[in-house]
Amino acid sequence: MKRILSGIQPTGNLHLGNYLGALKRFVQLQHEADCYFCVVDLHALTVPRDPKDLREKTMEVATLYLAAGLNPEKMTMFIQSHVRAHPEASWLLECVARVGELDRMIQFKEKSKGKGADSVSVGLYTYPVLMAADILLYQADAVPVGEDQKQHLELCRDLAERFNRQYGEVLTVPEPLIGELGARIMGLDNPRKKMSKSAGSSANFIALLDDPDTIAKKIKRAVTDSENVIRYDPEEKPGISNLLVIYSLLAGESIPALEQKYQGVGYGQFKRDLIDVVVDHLVPIQERFRELQQSGDVERILAAGAEKASQVADETLSKMKDAMGLLPPSR
Ligand code: AQP
Repeated sequence: MKRILSGIQPTGNLHLGNYLGALKRFVQLQHEADCYFCVVDLHALTVPRDPKDLREKTMEVATLYLAAGLNPEKMTMFIQSHVRAHPEASWLLECVARVGELDRMIQFKEKSKGKGADSVSVGLYTYPVLMAADILLYQADAVPVGEDQKQHLELCRDLAERFNRQYGEVLTVPEPLIGELGARIMGLDNPRKKMSKSAGSSANFIALLDDPDTIAKKIKRAVTDSENVIRYDPEEKPGISNLLVIYSLLAGESIPALEQKYQGVGYGQFKRDLIDVVVDHLVPIQERFRELQQSGDVERILAAGAEKASQVADETLSKMKDAMGLLPPSR
């Protein structure tokens, strides 16, 4: 059985992009592979965070994992900082990574843009190495991610290959699993940029916990074009194409079928139907979320997950340290 690892940062509100690019796929994959899913809280520290907010968001993301359909009988889920091997393996890999490689990371360039070197954390720069450690510790064969993480995954593969060349075959080189549709859900207020938790305006995204009225308002205001024709054309019609992708993935109807269904129908009706599709999909998740919050089950599932994950991660970490020439402690 293939091993799979992925994670989501507890920064801001989880949105439809995170859901369609990652979480919804995690739910399918748990039936097909040996899956490890984590809430990557250490990554959230790369930019200043309020500690109380980070604690709350970490539990929120873990609870959303379960509310969206992840089943502790089928997969292992945990909080990254509960498995101590992650930062330790990251250091080992920092000594394998090259400054030139990290200099080329687009996400670092975007997130540090306009900020002076004195205000950007070293963690933001080395973040992709920690991400590589997250993956390689579990000897993952594949990593489901949205398109924005493709470059980080390529770096992870390069680090694994270099480590293996330098120190012997220890690490599995993972493949990216990037969905054809939904890999890049665009912002509702600007369909030429990806939907993002850290977007300046909440009109950019539909949060998984937005109430039906908020969802309706955001979809009604979503930027489209003046043609009033429902046709998939990401270059010429990025707004309506993005809404078609969201509709298609949530309703399970293909884009050509939707184009056919909405021939001669204006954007107003299409948006009203999309509101129903999104609300019908998210309300049951929100109800399960609230039940789980009351149940106390999430903490128990996370504790069991961290224990299982630690066993796998510690085994790989020991192999990495041994291969690099670090002495084990004497017994
Ligand atoms: N717009 C998107 N479309 C499809 N997939 C997306 N993902 C993120 N945005 C989209 C995927 O969601 C997973 C979790 O992402 P993350 O929390 O680790 O960080 P991110 O990629 O940086 O996501 P955000 O929402 O843009 O957060 P901020 O604004 O905090 O940086 C990943 O698999 C990602 O590909």
